[in-house]
Formats: sequence, C-alpha cells, structure tokens
Amino acid sequence: MTITGPDPMCIYPIKNDNKLVFLKPFVKAKNIIVGDYTYFDDRRYGPERFEEYNVLYNYDFSKVKLVIGKFCAIAAETRFIMTGDHKLDAISTYPFPIFGHGWENAFNVYDLPVKGDIVVGNDVWFGYDSLVMNGVSIGNGAIIAAKAVVVKDVPAYSIVAGNPAKVVKMRFDDKTIERLQKIAWWDWKIEKINKYLKLICHLDVDQLELVSHE
Ligand SMILES: CC(C)(COP(=O)(O)OP(=O)(O)OC[C@H]1O[C@@H](n2cnc3c(N)ncnc32)[C@H](O)[C@@H]1OP(=O)(O)O)[C@@H](O)C(=O)NCCC(=O)NCCS
Repeated sequence: MTITGPDPMCIYPIKNDNKLVFLKPFVKAKNIIVGDYTYFDDRRYGPERFEEYNVLYNYDFSKVKLVIGKFCAIAAETRFIMTGDHKLDAISTYPFPIFGHGWENAFNVYDLPVKGDIVVGNDVWFGYDSLVMNGVSIGNGAIIAAKAVVVKDVPAYSIVAGNPAKVVKMRFDDKTIERLQKIAWWDWKIEKINKYLKLICHLDVDQLELVSHE
C-alpha cells in the first residue's frame, strides 16, 4: 500500500471520529496560524469550542498572534491565554472602560499589558490541561506535561512541568538536539516524511541525519 498519510486540509482526519480535528483547516480567526497536521483532541466537549475556550481572551485590541507549527499534538483543556491581564500600573486593576456609561474614558484599553505572541514550534506535545501565557515561545520537540502552567520560554526538546512550568528533563543531549534542529524533519516534503516515517518514529539519529541530505 502506498503511504500517503492523511490530507492535512481534512478537518476530521480519522474516520468516524469528530472529536479530533486538524486545526489548520478548522480555525477561523486570522490571528491563529497553525501548521499542517497539528491536531486538537477533546473527547468530552469536541473541538468546536477551541477558538472560544482553548484560545482565551483573544480580543481584537490585543493584536497578539498564536502561531503553532506542524505536527503538534494538543490535548483537551490545553489553553492559550492571549491577553486578559488587567491594568497593573494603576491603583485599581478593575476594568472600568468595558462597562461604558462614561467609564470608557478611564483609560485606553489598547494600553492593557500584553507580553506578545505565543509561538509554538513543530512536533510539540501539549499534555492535558496545560496552560500557556502570551509572550511565550515553545521550541521544537518540547513536551508540555499535563497541568503545566507555561509562563516562560520552553527550550527545544525539553519536558516542562508544574506551575510555573520548569524544565524537568531534556529529551536528548545538547549535541543531539542541535542535530535534530538541523534535520528539521517536519519541514521535509510529505513524500520524504512518508518514506522515512519509521526513522522519525525511532531513535537512530545517525540514520535520520544521513537521509535528511537526500
Ligand atoms: C511529562 C510526562 C510525559 C512524563 O514524561 P517522563 O519523561 O516519563 O517523565 P517522568 O515521569 O520521569 O517525570 C520527570 C519528572 O517530572 C515530574 N512530572 C511528570 N509529569 C508531571 C506533571 N504533569 N506535573 C508535574 N510534574 C510532573 C515527575 O514527578 C518527575 O519529577 P522528579 O524528577 O522530581 O521525580 C507525563 O507525566 C505527562 O504529563 N504526560 C501527559 C499525558 C497527557 O496529558 N496526555 C493527554 C492525552 S495526549
């Protein structure tokens, strides 16, 4: 049988399963940019509420982007906090302007603190109920443990856990990580990924490096 893999533009890539979606063809918001094959899986509620519940406080005025690479796996209850910080440099943190009736001039909502975009690399696995704050970058191949609260950048091929999330383990030594970052298998043409799938799913870095030059 010819290996093709699923169509990355198919919303429901698994037959008879409407709880898992490829996010690229599924999301509508212009500031959520997702790479091929990255999926979100929510057995309890389904994926329909992803943009409302899993990408939180995605207000127009914030201008924050959520950029997720290819081949990421996003478990249920993973949440990205796009904005939502109240005013920190004033006596009160209460958001007066949103209520109007004269309160709209208390301060400019465009001045609310936002740390920046959330940028996720490729082949990142988000465990159940993990939470990522705006301004954070997550490196390729990282694992976000279940219930981690990510407030700082996550190095490539690290495992982070806890609140605040800290590196509990590196998946490989520094030299191997450097080689894997160069190989960047996720950027290969899909035909090449299909051809060397077994190598990608095992641990022979020498061999993967060798074929990466093809
Ligand atoms: C991170 C994870 C993958 C385990 O990876 P691992 O390499 O086997 O790591 P270990 O179990 O050896 O744990 C390493 C350390 O991190 C800690 N740790 C692991 N998972 C943790 C978590 N979710 N929260 C806090 N600490 C965690 C361990 O206690 C251990 O600490 P220690 O070194 O002080 O003993 C796993 O714990 C996890 O969170 N998986 C997510 C599962 C999930 O949510 N699946 C959803 C469906 S896809």
